[in-house]
Amino acid sequence: MKPRMVKVSAPGKVILSGEHAVVYSYPALVAAVNKRLSITRIGNKKEIDSDIPIGCGMGSSAAFAVASSALNIKLKGERWDLEKINQEAYKREKKQHGNPSGGDNTISTYGGFLWYRKEAESLKTFSQIHSKRKLSNLFAINTGRPNESTKEMVSYVAGLYRKRKSKIDSILKDIGEVTKAFLRYLLAEENLSLEALIKGNESLLENLGVVSKSTIQLIREIEKIGGAAKVSGAGGKKDKSGILLAYHQDPDRLVMLAKDMNLDIFPIRLGEGGVRVEK
Ligand code: PMV
Repeated sequence: MKPRMVKVSAPGKVILSGEHAVVYSYPALVAAVNKRLSITRIGNKKEIDSDIPIGCGMGSSAAFAVASSALNIKLKGERWDLEKINQEAYKREKKQHGNPSGGDNTISTYGGFLWYRKEAESLKTFSQIHSKRKLSNLFAINTGRPNESTKEMVSYVAGLYRKRKSKIDSILKDIGEVTKAFLRYLLAEENLSLEALIKGNESLLENLGVVSKSTIQLIREIEKIGGAAKVSGAGGKKDKSGILLAYHQDPDRLVMLAKDMNLDIFPIRLGEGGVRVEK
């Protein structure tokens, strides 16, 4: 008899706006992307496959946590229950990251676009957003794996928050405003430009201090050729800052710039499906 095979997969994500601020109960707008991690279990063997860059803010650890929880549920023969998968994944994420907002595991579970808020440890709210905009010409540029982990970046911001509460809170609040503007843009309730939203978010992340000098330089180069880019995820301040979400109405120019700088660049589609069983 052939051993039973079970395969599940979960997507990575980008944060359109709201990283770091989401840890302080401000909203975040997140989207699942067309990069996935899968776990296949055949007999006693487990195989992990992923095209999500590791440790770069694209949600690879959350995708692993979600896929592992989903696989457990399948192997135990339990009912496919997204809420349960998400809760289990959150527990795994907490072990690894200390104080995560839970946004990463939630988007990887449910997919699509999510408006996410952690009001309190026991009240995390989210809504699926049906984007009325076609988001095209978006790319991920990998500046490389940051020296700092997400946990370290989150505690770096926490340290700043303790020392200079009013300054830091005002930056986080402004990030919240950009996130709301982004939401109105997606819902076509306001005519804003995607470039302006990305630039607005990036400039606040730079003020917060989560973007390294070399990444700031790269983003200025992207802006010079008419594009926009932002750190997506926890960022990194010493050297690399992980994945950038980048936009240009003439994508070839962006691709050329990244290639000239020897950086990995790939097109991304937003709003992809969440965790699922693969046939
Ligand atoms: O870098 P990532 O994908 O782990 O994203 C972290 C996002 C933060 O807001 C910085 C932390 C969190 O838990 O939401």
